[in-house]
Amino acid sequence: MTALSANHTADSETEPADIVPTTMRAVVHRRYGTAEVLEIEEMAVPEPGSGQVLVRVEASSLNALDWHFMTGTPWLIRPTSGFLRPKRVVPGADVVGTVVALGPDVDDLRVGDAVFGESPGGGCSHYAVVASDHVAPIPHGVDVQAAAATPVAGLTALQALRTHAKTQPGEHVLVNGAAGGVGTFTVQIAKALGAEVTAVCSTRNVEMARRLGADTVIDYTTDDFVEQGARFDVMVDNVGNRKPAECKSVLHPAGRYVAISGPKKNQLLGPVAYIVRAALSFRRASQSFHQFTASANRDDLSYLGELLASGRVTPEIQRTIGLDGVAEGMAEIGTGHTRAKIVVDALSYE
Ligand SMILES: NC(=O)c1ccc[n+]([C@@H]2O[C@H](COP(=O)([O-])OP(=O)(O)OC[C@H]3O[C@@H](n4cnc5c(N)ncnc54)[C@H](OP(=O)(O)O)[C@@H]3O)[C@@H](O)[C@H]2O)c1
Repeated sequence: MTALSANHTADSETEPADIVPTTMRAVVHRRYGTAEVLEIEEMAVPEPGSGQVLVRVEASSLNALDWHFMTGTPWLIRPTSGFLRPKRVVPGADVVGTVVALGPDVDDLRVGDAVFGESPGGGCSHYAVVASDHVAPIPHGVDVQAAAATPVAGLTALQALRTHAKTQPGEHVLVNGAAGGVGTFTVQIAKALGAEVTAVCSTRNVEMARRLGADTVIDYTTDDFVEQGARFDVMVDNVGNRKPAECKSVLHPAGRYVAISGPKKNQLLGPVAYIVRAALSFRRASQSFHQFTASANRDDLSYLGELLASGRVTPEIQRTIGLDGVAEGMAEIGTGHTRAKIVVDALSYE
């Protein structure tokens, strides 16, 4: 699976007449729960609304985000995800494929465009509806799997480093949780921005972190980055397992702490309690505190596309599964120890 089946350029003159079926195969969870709630169903192909396009999906990838929407945890998300039953029933926020229909008011994409981006769920199916400004064209030379691994994890890493920490060349970035989806992008994007990178991960992922470009790798099972005494300009925290005072102690006086995540044991609030505590703790500190929820936009996706096309970032893909492997993949996401990205080939279960 290396190339899209439709036109690959936004400026192509050809608009293929695509016959969209009325039903499609999809991985679905009709109730909240762990991976056993996932089933493969035949369901109606969604229709694009205003500002949306319908994409024939070729690939997706799994994220912790999909786990939260499948389990309905923390409960804090239920006003959005549905109180008793999920509103978002198909996992797969990441979407790669070909635009096959345009909703009203879409004038920036055409049928036949090959795009990658973030959907409100739907990647683990054959067709998904996506906001037109939440996708970008796939640059030439970028394969489908790489594009599928990128949107949520790549946007999170990019926005942490560039939008929030405003990382400068030569600065020293600490990545706590360097081995997962977000972490593997954070290490590579920090290097692409010219930073020096220290990655924190477990023993089995040390070699991978080095291969991705980390200048220093700390194995948290044997060493403690807080006790090592090194100081950083930026700490991107994909785990949230340290006290805020410890995070401050590893930052220079003008350092930036970016909280991507926090402990998830609290079923009601999830990482929010940790994040509020950390924000309060940084209030009087010289270092700044940043927390955000990554959001898709065309500019950032296009920038990520350039990083992929130039080879400065190569998504680390642990394995590729079919729609029938999604339950197993989601079970792995639920462990909190997924290595890099699990890509879903949406075409492999016909
Ligand atoms: N704020 C946002 O917008 C946003 C967006 C995306 C994701 N997130 C959150 O960010 C977190 C990371 O996402 P992800 O997609 O990268 O998750 P993931 O793919 O499941 O990866 C989690 C990684 O955390 C590492 N890890 C676990 N315990 C660790 C520890 N004590 N020290 C260092 N590393 C540890 C694991 O590596 P080892 O196996 O080596 O321990 C694993 O590779 C998740 O909690 C997710 O919910 C937030």
